[in-house]
Amino acid sequence: MAEYKVAVIPGDGVGLEVIDEGRKALEAVAGVTDGLSFQFTEFPWGSEFYRETGKLMPDDGIETLKGFDTILFGAVGDPNIPDHITLHGLLLPMRRSFDQGVCIRPAYLYPGVESPLSGKKAGDIDMVIFRENTEGEYAPVGGRLYAGTAHETVVQTNMFTRRGTERIIRAAFEYCVRRNKGNKVTSVTKSNAQSFGMVFWDEVFADVAADFPQIETESLLVDRAAMDFVRWPEDFDVVVASNLFADILSDIAAVVTGSMGLAPSANINPEREYPSLFEPVHGAAFDIMGKGIANPLATVSAVAMMLDHLGEQEAAERVDRAVARCLEQRTVLTADLGGTATTAEMGYEAARLIREG
Ligand code: NAI
Ligand code: MG
Repeated sequence: MAEYKVAVIPGDGVGLEVIDEGRKALEAVAGVTDGLSFQFTEFPWGSEFYRETGKLMPDDGIETLKGFDTILFGAVGDPNIPDHITLHGLLLPMRRSFDQGVCIRPAYLYPGVESPLSGKKAGDIDMVIFRENTEGEYAPVGGRLYAGTAHETVVQTNMFTRRGTERIIRAAFEYCVRRNKGNKVTSVTKSNAQSFGMVFWDEVFADVAADFPQIETESLLVDRAAMDFVRWPEDFDVVVASNLFADILSDIAAVVTGSMGLAPSANINPEREYPSLFEPVHGAAFDIMGKGIANPLATVSAVAMMLDHLGEQEAAERVDRAVARCLEQRTVLTADLGGTATTAEMGYEAARLIREG
C-alpha cells in the first residue's frame, strides 16, 4: 500500500475526453482501499503544445517523467499535423526512452456486448496480444536521399535485436503460464517474405518455446492470422507479434470484441527501471472527437492494468469487475455500444460501480 505519483498526459482528440474518466476510476478505487492513494500531475503535451512551442513535449519531458511511478496516457494525433510528427514527438519517444518493450493488449468479449461476428457469446473471444514495443518496423532507422529528384531513394529498416525479440516472446510465455486459460502461444510473422528479421523471430520463438514444454505453440503468417482473428477468434489465447503486426491485429481484436472503445493497453518496462505507461489502444478518433461520446472504458481498463502492474491486485480486480458490470447491466452506454450516454456519464457510472465493489 502506498501513495503513487501518476503522470497524466491527456494528449489529443478523444484522449482529452477519456482521460478524466481514468483518473476518476483511480480516485474511486483509492477512496475505498485503505492506504492506497494517488498524486496526479497533469502535463498539457501534444498537438496544442506543438502549435505553441514547436515541440510535442519539452526537451526535458522524458527526464521529468522519470520521477513518476506510472504514466496514464490518452492519445496523440491531430487532423492538421502529420502523424509522423505527432506520434514520433510524444508517444514513441516515451516507449523507447523508458524501454517499454512489452506491450500487453487483452481483448475479451464481455457479457452484454455484441460482437459484429455472428454467433459469438460472452467469453468466446478471450485473447491477449503481446506486442514488441520498441523496435521492429517502428525503429526510427532509415533515411531519404536525393529528396524531390528523379533519383529519390528511401530506406526504412526493420530492426530486430535478440534482446528485444526474446524479451517479448518470453513475456508472452510467462503470461500464458500465469493466466492458465487456453495454454497456447501463437507467434505471428511473415517469414515467407521477410527472410531476415522474421526468420530470426521464428528461431527465437522456437528457442524460448523449448523452455515451456507444457505450452502449446503455433506460428502463423500475418495475413492468415488476420483472417483467423475474424473467422475463428476463439482459437487464440496468447498472441505474440512484432510492433507493426501486433498493432494491426490489436485493432481487429478490439472490433471483434465489440468496440475500439473497450481495448486497453499496457506499455511495460519489465525491468522496472522506468515508469510504465497505460493507455487505451485507440487513437485520437477524429470522427468523434469534441462530441463527448467516446467510450471511456478502454481507459478505465487501462487503469486496472496499471494497478495490477503496481502490485495493487485487489484494486485492479475491483476496477475490472466494475467495467464488466457496467457493460452487463447495459443502462449507461456510449453510442459505440448502442447507447446514448456521454463519456462523462459512463465514466461516472464506472466510478460508482468501483465504489460499490
Ligand atoms: P482511432 O483509434 O483514433 O479510431 C478508429 C475508429 O475507432 C474510429 O472510427 C473511432 O471513432 C473509433 N473509436 C476510437 N476510440 C473510440 C472510443 N473511445 N469510443 C468509441 N469509438 C472509438 O484510429 P485512427 O482513426 O486510425 O487514428 C486517428 C489518429 O489517432 C491518427 O492521428 C493516429 O495516428 C492516432 N493514433 C494514436 C494512437 C495513440 O496515441 N496511441 C493510436 C492509434 C492512432
Ligand atoms: Mg494501433
